[in-house]
Amino acid sequence: MSKIILTGDRPTGRLHLGHYVGSLKRRVELQNSGEFDKIFIMIADAQALTDNADNPEKVRQNIIEVALDYLSAGLDPEKSDIFIQSQIPQLTELTFYYMNLVTVSRLQRNPTVKNEILMRNFEASIPVGFFTYPISQASDITAFKATTVPVGEDQEPMIEQAREIVRKFNSVYGDTLVEPNILLPDNKACLRLPGTDGKAKMSKSLGNCIYLSDTEAEVKRKVMSMYTDPEHIRVEDPGKIEGNCVFIYLDAFSTKEDFEEFLPDYANLDELKEHYKRGGLGDVKVKKFLIRVLNRQLEPIRQKRHMYEKDIPGVYDILQKGTKAAYEVAQQTLEEVKAAMKINYFDDKELIKIQSEKYKSID
Ligand code: TRP
Repeated sequence: MSKIILTGDRPTGRLHLGHYVGSLKRRVELQNSGEFDKIFIMIADAQALTDNADNPEKVRQNIIEVALDYLSAGLDPEKSDIFIQSQIPQLTELTFYYMNLVTVSRLQRNPTVKNEILMRNFEASIPVGFFTYPISQASDITAFKATTVPVGEDQEPMIEQAREIVRKFNSVYGDTLVEPNILLPDNKACLRLPGTDGKAKMSKSLGNCIYLSDTEAEVKRKVMSMYTDPEHIRVEDPGKIEGNCVFIYLDAFSTKEDFEEFLPDYANLDELKEHYKRGGLGDVKVKKFLIRVLNRQLEPIRQKRHMYEKDIPGVYDILQKGTKAAYEVAQQTLEEVKAAMKINYFDDKELIKIQSEKYKSID
């Protein structure tokens, strides 16, 4: 069986470090591993509209931002098809049929939906489109027969729901769809990178993000004001590592080379942590190290972004080519789905023959 990747992001803002360590960095590695037959990366504008229906301009503006972030982080249009969700109408059509296979109560139990309803103050007024977006996400995945979906931990319930839809579809209509597997980051700190304020999640609305496109100076400013251990006041005080953003970020980003080059007094992160816990290590020193660690990873991304920013029509071309390739694959799957559901009347020679026979026998 082919190995196929499908994943994507909502274009509601530029991508940040949470996106990067949660999924984007991994995608680039998988792309370059050469182990996959096909890689589809989707800009989920239709999904973004499920809770931004009154603000299409925001979604429209951010499509290019996300595309620039993708390309600058190393997604290569020669190896991955980058496409725009709303331009693949087959996805909407699949969603309509999958809706018959999912109950309202199952959607209500989806933890991601539950959580997002809370975050968006949607309790009493959830748009139907928003409520059903897990079904639409199952269409995104199955339309490409994706075997592997690299995403952050928050997407786990979505992939589970997609797997259920596949099993249900295949059991009702016969083997047609492929059950996807989630691929989570293997580094615990990357599973859910907290915001710079220590809140559970990096999120644009909380204003606690470091963006891939932030300048060196912005990264510096954000790290210097980062949440650490509020009880670690004087350098001599023993400090706490748990819930301390600076150390969580170092867990997610620092490498052996970073220590060798920027902080050779410590062999590795464990030694640095031990010193902090003992006392005698100030926040500023650790923060300065983190700034260098982050900037080392972000600098090549920034440079690549500047290059692509000079050729925006070229970026739209890349999206259009990717969308065309995605369209063809989704169309093929839709045809198989409709044949399995027996709603392919005009292609079904057998049906026409049977119906003719039925009426022949009448006269
Ligand atoms: N829900 C994802 C997010 O918010 C975006 C997304 C839409 C997606 N469809 C997908 C991710 C299919 C993986 C597979 O980030």
